[in-house]
Amino acid sequence: TNVPVVTIDGPSGSGKGTVAALLAKEFDWHLLDSGALYRLTALAAMNHDVDFSDEKSLEVLAGHLDVQFEPGGEGETLKIILEGERVGANLRTEEVGAKASQIAALPGVRKALLQRQQDFAEAPGLVADGRDMGTVVFPQANVKVYLTASAEERAKRRQNQLQQKGIDASFDQLLGDIIARDDRDMNRDVAPLKPADDAIVLDSTRLSIQEVFSRVVDVMRQNG
Ligand code: C5P
Repeated sequence: TNVPVVTIDGPSGSGKGTVAALLAKEFDWHLLDSGALYRLTALAAMNHDVDFSDEKSLEVLAGHLDVQFEPGGEGETLKIILEGERVGANLRTEEVGAKASQIAALPGVRKALLQRQQDFAEAPGLVADGRDMGTVVFPQANVKVYLTASAEERAKRRQNQLQQKGIDASFDQLLGDIIARDDRDMNRDVAPLKPADDAIVLDSTRLSIQEVFSRVVDVMRQNG
């Protein structure tokens, strides 16, 4: 297909999810939060007591994932329905993120989720964020961005996010979690986190979300 695709890859906490959502809204394009699919697979595995070392069962689960994405009401976020039940804030917890990262290292699970991700590329366009959007899932994308930030800055952002929700978390604990997840995502054999050869690398350590957003919009305009 020749639907325009913009990919935003990077480590957790780099701001890629926020930037991707802003871009999709700006251009009225579809949005793929690929990390959510890995997180949902992990949640489904937890719900069904599937063993996290049982690759075959996890692969079947990923291939049959019963999930609907529904637009929320005015000012409301997307509704995610997993096996008939609305998924809450626990989808975004570090525990589920770590479990998602564990199953994301399994080739069978990645293969089972590939087509489902590619199906999001529908007119008028798609913004996809994740770890391998530009390298594996949408190698033909028109614009590829690799968004990064120092681990300390990402831990600080995460701590602020949690504080806003009234949750006190230890900085050292958060930093340790981030470094462990980066390490797993960057050093796995299949679809490791890395910039595509033709990606634009942006470091958001000292950039606001708005600045990152404007830079990507500029690149998109240059690419027609
Ligand atoms: O981006 P998010 O933190 O929601 O992703 C959760 C985990 O899912 C990541 O740590 C990564 O291991 C995995 N993932 C992946 N490929 C993607 C998106 C997410 O392997 N395209």
